[in-house]
Amino acid sequence: MSTGLILGIESSCDETAAAVVRRGTETLSNVVASQIAIHTPYGGVVPELASREHLRNIVPVVRAAIAEAGITLQDLDAIAVTEGPGLAGALLVGITYAKSLAFALNKPLIAVNHLEGHIHAVLLEQAELAEEPVSLPALALVVSGGHTHLYLARRNGDHWYYRNVGHTVDDAAGEAFDKVAKLLGLGYPGGPWIDALAPHGDPYAVPFSFAQIKPKLHRGETHADNPERPFLFSFSGIKTAVLRYVQTHDLFPSIEVRRSALAQISQARAADALPFCDQETLNLIASFQRAVVDDLRRKTFQAAEAFDAASILISGGVAANRELRVRFTAEAAEHSLPIAFPSLALSTDNAAMVAAAAWPKLMDGQYAPAELSAEPSLALGR
Ligand code: KG4
Ligand code: ZN
Repeated sequence: MSTGLILGIESSCDETAAAVVRRGTETLSNVVASQIAIHTPYGGVVPELASREHLRNIVPVVRAAIAEAGITLQDLDAIAVTEGPGLAGALLVGITYAKSLAFALNKPLIAVNHLEGHIHAVLLEQAELAEEPVSLPALALVVSGGHTHLYLARRNGDHWYYRNVGHTVDDAAGEAFDKVAKLLGLGYPGGPWIDALAPHGDPYAVPFSFAQIKPKLHRGETHADNPERPFLFSFSGIKTAVLRYVQTHDLFPSIEVRRSALAQISQARAADALPFCDQETLNLIASFQRAVVDDLRRKTFQAAEAFDAASILISGGVAANRELRVRFTAEAAEHSLPIAFPSLALSTDNAAMVAAAAWPKLMDGQYAPAELSAEPSLALGR
């Protein structure tokens, strides 16, 4: 008899995660073992260390997810695992474990695209809150440390379709947060630090501008005239602009003071950095965040209009950003468009989103092949 229970496993980057979700709409457990402390000294994810930590964590994390859900492995209907995109060695740990479990239990294995998982994090929580089903097509912005993508999402029965209508041509938005935080002597990952410090600065103090990367549109043509043209983001320029500001305003000495002060504090947080940030630095942080959020907001709403989206979904680690939530919510209200964000816990990487995305695939009979392997550059949609 079907229980509707799916065990999701996620190991694409620096979180080892497992969760049990019923019918894509009810979270029974959601366990995440973060590796932040391991990678912090390096200011970024070290792939070899990530694989090693996944190996160490995968068994206890899955056991904890099953125990917290109050079920046994036999109760599961299927095992779902992230197939990609992500770090090859990291993905392989989750995939190998999920495959063995599915084989041993004689249960179907379902492969999930990490980016589709992020989109389903929002859908899962909307269902849990018993909100109206999300109006489709939805324009989904997936914005994290590795990705900045716009998708048009629609469904036909249990089959979801994604069309990729925008992407970054260089760094992801989260990567810009991480690199700027590192440059300024703040902690890792940088997003939450910048988020916490930005309200103390003047967001209009430093006039950052984005070089508009235009796909080759013909004269007078807009995206609406030719929807095949993608919306393009670029976040490497602003990172360089922050570096140039630091150089020309001679901020390196104060950065070094901050860096070494924070290094003395075990498990330092953004509040610990505040006394070591002068007003000029806080203004720089606030202006950087405003510029990135504005650029994301402008293009997301342009794309929603161009593709006549009925709602907007925001997900991925950067969706946790408070200024982003406030500005996107205000603009959605102006456009009378419904907008949804995941809770903070489901914004960053987790396995509930993987189990939720797998449910329609199980219903649709989309099982993973026995030779399933890691797909580090897996794309979503066409
Ligand atoms: O989705 P995620 O956990 O992993 C990837 O798939 O990349 O996203 C992590 C990213 C990091 O770049 C982190 O700095 C960023 O999300 N992030 C934030 C915030 N919380 C996490 N960026 C801005 N503001 C935040 N509050
Ligand atoms: Zn992610």
